[in-house]
Amino acid sequence: MKILLEAKNLSKEYIKTTGFFSRTRTSIKALDNLSINIKRGITLAVVGESGSGKSTLAKSLIRLIELDKGSIKFKNKNMRQISGDELKVTRKNIQMIFQDPYASLNPRMKIIKIMEEPLKIHAIGNSTTQYSKILSMIKRVGLEERDLLKYPHQFSGGQRQRIGIARALILEPELVICDEPVSALDVSVQAQIIQLLKSLQVEFGLTYLFITHDLRIVRHIANEVIVMKDGKLIEQGKTDIIFGSPKTKYTKELLASIPGNLLKRK
Ligand SMILES: Nc1ncnc2c1ncn2[C@@H]1O[C@H](COP(=O)(O)OP(=O)(O)OP(=O)(O)O)[C@@H](O)[C@H]1O
Ligand SMILES: [Mg+2]
Repeated sequence: MKILLEAKNLSKEYIKTTGFFSRTRTSIKALDNLSINIKRGITLAVVGESGSGKSTLAKSLIRLIELDKGSIKFKNKNMRQISGDELKVTRKNIQMIFQDPYASLNPRMKIIKIMEEPLKIHAIGNSTTQYSKILSMIKRVGLEERDLLKYPHQFSGGQRQRIGIARALILEPELVICDEPVSALDVSVQAQIIQLLKSLQVEFGLTYLFITHDLRIVRHIANEVIVMKDGKLIEQGKTDIIFGSPKTKYTKELLASIPGNLLKRK
């Protein structure tokens, strides 16, 4: 299977100042020599306890944060060296869906504007073709034409995440990084959004890097899993193998936190 993204030896250290007059400086290795491959067309889940570096990994892959060290190849292009048009095309090809759609949607913009923005930035089509693209995408995620004239606060959490998904997919990316996309939602809504993401993956041939705390979701959607701890890769492999015979104590403990009946269900 072809590799879409290859990240090697990623390292990122944060300096935290704490204490009286910020005199104490401690460094945290959010990414510690981490290497991963993402194969085209699959869902690769990233799991690990809070603070293990999952979001740092996600943000570094789309260059939202600068790495201290490491290389990222996306479709054989070196992400850390490209600039200008090449970077723009690559950015279009990797989109992100965030945990809290409310924080990531501009509250002062109507949905139509939110959806138009990426198309304008990347100069895709004219206003007529842009509108038809937006309309078909917003319908595809389960909303209606009249919703385009509303503001983010007029929607429920689940609907807002549908808008976040529509905005991410409007640019027809190949890789979509989902950082805890359903953890802020009610359980019943979570299932609907997961189902939507799955069907969109098939329809558009997407590759997902899917960050989650919830191992039940991993079981449900991921082909492969990587387990992170303290910025390091602890374990990686096919979902069934990680669940069936975890190699490390850390992974076993993560798995043990899932209610037993759900662990067995596929
Ligand atoms: N901007 C920052 N400045 C300083 N430290 C940071 C910053 N962002 C993250 N960190 C630290 O880096 C480590 C990794 O954080 P990160 O957000 O990547 O973890 P995570 O696995 O996504 O956690 P969670 O599951 O809670 O979302 C944590 O110790 C965090 O406190
Ligand atoms: Mg995070």
